[in-house]
Amino acid sequence: MPETVFIKNLKDNVDKEVKIKGWMYNKRGSGKLFFLQLRDGTGIVQAIVSQNDVSSDTFQTADKLTMESSLELIGKVTKHPRHEDVFEIQTKEIKIIQIVNEEYPISKKEHGTSFLLDNRHLWLRSPTQRAIQVIRNTIINGIYEYLNKKGFIKIDSPILTPNACEGTTDLFELKYFEEGSAYLSQSGQLYLEAAIFSVGRCFDFGPVFRAEKSKTRRHLTEFWMMDAEAAFVEHDENLKIQEELIVSIVKKILKENKKELKTLERDIEPLKKIESPFLKKTHAEVVKELREMGSDIQENHDLGGDDETILTKKYDKPIFVEKYPAEVKAFYMKRDPENENLALCADLLAPEGYGEIIGGSEREDDYDKLSKRIKENKLPEGIFDWYLDLRKYGSVPHSGFGIGMERLTAWICGRKHIRETIPFPRTIKRLIP
Ligand code: 4AD
Ligand code: MG
Repeated sequence: MPETVFIKNLKDNVDKEVKIKGWMYNKRGSGKLFFLQLRDGTGIVQAIVSQNDVSSDTFQTADKLTMESSLELIGKVTKHPRHEDVFEIQTKEIKIIQIVNEEYPISKKEHGTSFLLDNRHLWLRSPTQRAIQVIRNTIINGIYEYLNKKGFIKIDSPILTPNACEGTTDLFELKYFEEGSAYLSQSGQLYLEAAIFSVGRCFDFGPVFRAEKSKTRRHLTEFWMMDAEAAFVEHDENLKIQEELIVSIVKKILKENKKELKTLERDIEPLKKIESPFLKKTHAEVVKELREMGSDIQENHDLGGDDETILTKKYDKPIFVEKYPAEVKAFYMKRDPENENLALCADLLAPEGYGEIIGGSEREDDYDKLSKRIKENKLPEGIFDWYLDLRKYGSVPHSGFGIGMERLTAWICGRKHIRETIPFPRTIKRLIP
């Protein structure tokens, strides 16, 4: 019996007879010859079925095969006569696992996004959607590799939490037995801040939730965040770590996912320009620049989506926007020693109109100041006592940041809307499939 081989490994099996297990993606031909496009999760290959070379049973099977039918196919691997690095299969035998009797809902013709999202469970099979998931996987691996190399330990933070991390307006609340309310985590940051006192540097990666009423191409209600946190790291070093991390991820993708980037028709020239140093501008500078570009942003405003779009189309490098007015940022951020009204924070904006992919800051490490901020922000008394404890027992300067996995993936893949970068997107109006 021939060995089962993944399509991505056909190059190592030229002239051998192999078995492929997969699905029929497409079919051409008739009469005496069929060209089957097979996919198996690792790639797509063309299998040629010639009436002269197979039994009449096998030829009839090829004739019957419908889109997305599952099958096993045996044949000899050959090199494509003209294209370098393309392999084909000269079919000997086909065994159907399941024949699809209904017309497959997703055809080659253009479909509207809402139809595709209704059929997300099937849409995921398409070459573009597969390519996005493969790239997402490389990004995740790249983050683990880089951070592990830099001494960050993976620490898993909880999803059920008693308090807000990023403001109380967009929390998902649920009833928690006799304890009252619990909230789905908005970010694991506060827990990582506890963990740095144990392991020094750490990161998490998990789903987070925002009951935000934002219906933009950049917002989901459930998304995946990688938070990193490090003891004894101050603002500038925090940015350095983020910069190196992003450069290393982009390099890894350019090296390992050429095929997928091509499938996505991603122009890779902009990605090749992602090198250190990134641009660094203060919020005040950016406000001035944006106003000159026609934005009505005010000095004490956060950047809006459109502001991020126009600013990041102007430069071909990522931009750190630092020192936002503290009033528009989270309670835990340390203040700029040179100006108490500013937070010692930075958002990292990706070029080509993508905007914020990372939010981070140095953290307030002084007990009294943090306690005062918690009161000023009217956060529930008592719930943050554990977090304040961290400023009582060996407090140190520390910083961290959180990457939105879908925003980072959307930028690298060149997809406009982040909903395509998560297998099953959750938005205000979408919970199915
Ligand atoms: O800027 P955010 O809100 O920062 C935090 O949550 C910090 N606690 C992180 C930290 O310092 N450890 O979120 C971080 C990133 C954003 O930069 C953005 O990429 C992404 O998460 N993000 C979203 N992605 C999709 N949908 C949403 N609704 C998002 N909100 C934030
Ligand atoms: Mg943010």
